[in-house]
Amino acid sequence: MTDPGPTEWSTGAPGVGPWAGGLPDDPRYDPDLLRQGDTRNVVDAYRYWTREAIIADIDRRRHALHIAIENFGNDANIGAVVRTANAFAVDTVHIVGRRRWNRRGAMVTDRYQRLAHHENTADLLAFAAGAGLTVVAVDNVPGAVPLETTVLPRDCVLVFGQEGPGISEAAQTGAAITVSIAQFGSTRSVNAAVAAGIAMHAWIRQWADLSQAW
Ligand SMILES: C[S@@+](CC[C@H](N)C(=O)[O-])C[C@H]1O[C@@H](n2cnc3c(N)ncnc32)[C@H](O)[C@@H]1O
Repeated sequence: MTDPGPTEWSTGAPGVGPWAGGLPDDPRYDPDLLRQGDTRNVVDAYRYWTREAIIADIDRRRHALHIAIENFGNDANIGAVVRTANAFAVDTVHIVGRRRWNRRGAMVTDRYQRLAHHENTADLLAFAAGAGLTVVAVDNVPGAVPLETTVLPRDCVLVFGQEGPGISEAAQTGAAITVSIAQFGSTRSVNAAVAAGIAMHAWIRQWADLSQAW
C-alpha cells in the first residue's frame, strides 16, 4: 500500500481486513490492499480498488455540474467544498486565486476529484464560456434570485465567494444569474461550505438521476 499522504488522516472507521481466500485477479483491485485490508474513506463498492480504478469509475458517471470557489485569501472552507463535490460526483472543482488551499477538510476526497486552478475570475469566466457552461454566482447580494424557486441550468458552474468579502464583483458581473439561499435568522450569511452543499444539492435535486445514487 502507498504511504499515507499529507491529507490522509484516520477517521477511525474500521474498513475491511485482508481479502479472505484466494486473491482475485480483477485488475481494478490493488494487490496490496487485498493483502493488507482497506480502511480508506471510500464507499464499500470501491473496497480494495486502486485509486485509478475508482477515479475511472466516477469519471464515467460525473455530472454536468462544475463548482468554483474564490480563494484570494486562502479560504479554509475549500476542503469541505471538495469533499461535498466528490460526494455528488461533480465534474470539476475550480479554485480561483491562490493555488494553495487547506486540504484538511477534504478528508482525502481530493484524490478522486477533478480539480482545476484559475489565476483570477476572468480566467474562470473564459473557461466557462469555452466549455459551454452557464456561470451562476451564489451569494445573498442585491439582485440575487431565490435558489429555492430557480431552475438551475444543467450545464453550469456554481461560483462561491469567501468568508468575509463574499463573492467578487467580477464573478457577479460575469454571471448569467446570481442565486441566494433563503435565511430566516439573525446571521448575515451561512458558512461558504454549507452554502456550497445546499446549492450543489439543489442542482442534484433538479438534474441528477437519483436511481444511480449509492
Ligand atoms: C460567509 S459568506 C460571505 C459574505 C456575505 N455575502 C455577507 O454579507 O456576510 C461566504 C460565501 O458563502 C456563500 N453564502 C453564504 N450565505 C449565503 C446565502 N444565504 N445565499 C447564497 N450564498 C451564500 C456565498 O458564496 C458567499 O460568498
